[in-house]
Amino acid sequence: MMGEPKSNRKRILTGDRPTGKLHLGHYVGSLQNRVKLQHEYETYLLIADIQALTTHWDKPEMLKQAVYDVAMDNLAVGIDPEVTTLCVQSMIPEIAELTSIYGLFTNMNRLRHNPTTKAEALQYGMIHENGDLISGFDQLTYGFFGYPLSQAADITFVRAHLVPVGEDQKPHVELTRDVVNKFNQLYGGGKEIIPMPKALIGDVPRLAGLDGDTKMSKSLGNVINLADPPEAVKDTVWKAITDKDKIRKGDPGNPEICNVFKYHKVFNQSEQIAEIERDCKSGVLGCVECKGRLTDILNGMLAPIRERRRPYEEHPERVKEILLEGTKKARILGKETVRMVKEAMKIDYFVL
Ligand code: TRP
Repeated sequence: MMGEPKSNRKRILTGDRPTGKLHLGHYVGSLQNRVKLQHEYETYLLIADIQALTTHWDKPEMLKQAVYDVAMDNLAVGIDPEVTTLCVQSMIPEIAELTSIYGLFTNMNRLRHNPTTKAEALQYGMIHENGDLISGFDQLTYGFFGYPLSQAADITFVRAHLVPVGEDQKPHVELTRDVVNKFNQLYGGGKEIIPMPKALIGDVPRLAGLDGDTKMSKSLGNVINLADPPEAVKDTVWKAITDKDKIRKGDPGNPEICNVFKYHKVFNQSEQIAEIERDCKSGVLGCVECKGRLTDILNGMLAPIRERRRPYEEHPERVKEILLEGTKKARILGKETVRMVKEAMKIDYFVL
C-alpha cells in the first residue's frame, strides 16, 4: 500500500451491535464505506455485545450466534482481518473501567437529553410518549440509560480519531467529545490525554424495505440479508410492492412510487435506470421482467460476498481465531489508555 506509513495513519473505531444478520441497508449505508476506509486508516471494528444486552439482557443466549453472524457478515463484504482489527466488547475489561471513570463527571442531564436513547426508550416501552418515566424508574435500567457513555469508552479505549456512523449515532459521538473535553480539562492540565474523536457521517440516504416501509425487518419480509441464498433474494423481490395501478405489462407505470425502481436506482447502472424509467412509463416493461432484472443485479452483487463467506462458514473456528487475535491486539491499546487515564487522574498510586 502506498500513502502514509502505518504508524502515522489516523485511527478509526466503528461498532456493531450483534442483534441479527446484516442486510442490504447496512451494506449501502455503512459496510461498503467501511471496507474502503480500512485501507486508508488504522481500523478497529468492535462487536458491541454488552451494548446489545442493554435492550436484550433477558436473552443472552442468542448473543454467541449473533456475534458470529456479525463478524461473518463483515468478513464476507470484504473487511480484511489482516488490515482491520475485529474485537469483542465483552472481552475488553478496559472499556468497562473507562465507562465507570467517565460516569464520575458526566451529569444525568447530559444522558437524559440524548435523542437516540430517548427514541429507543420509547420503542422499548421504557418511557411515555411525552418523555415521562413509566412507573418511576422501574422500566429504565442503569445500563441502558448509560450505554452512550460506554460507547464513549468504546471509542476512546483505542484513542480513535474518527468514528464512521449513521446520523442516529451522532448524539453518542457528541457525548464522547464532551467527555473527552471534560477529561482533558479536568485531568490533563492543558494537555490532550485522550485525542478528540470526530464523527464521519455517511451521506447515503437510508434504504427502505422492499415494501416501502422505512423499517427493515425479516419478520416484515421486506429485507434482503447479505447471507440470503439466490432463491430467497428472488422471493423477496417478487413480493415487493410496485405501482398498484400497473396490473399487467402494457399498463403505463409510475416509477416514482415503485419500490423496485428505488432499488434499481441504488443498485443498477445509470443507463439502465433511464431505460427502465422510460419503458415502465410507456408500459413496454412489465413488473415481472423488471423484478427479474433487479434479482439478477442483486444476486450478481451478492455472489462475491457469498463466495467470501463460504470458507468462514465451513470453518467458524477461523472466525473465532480472528476475534480472539483482534481482541488481544486491541487490549494492548486499551491497557495503555487506562494507564494514561489513571496517571493523569493521579490514581496510579498502586500498581498491581
Ligand atoms: N450504537 C451503535 C449502533 O447501535 C453500535 C456501537 C457500539 C458503536 N459502540 C460503538 C458505533 C462505537 C460506533 C462507535 O449501531
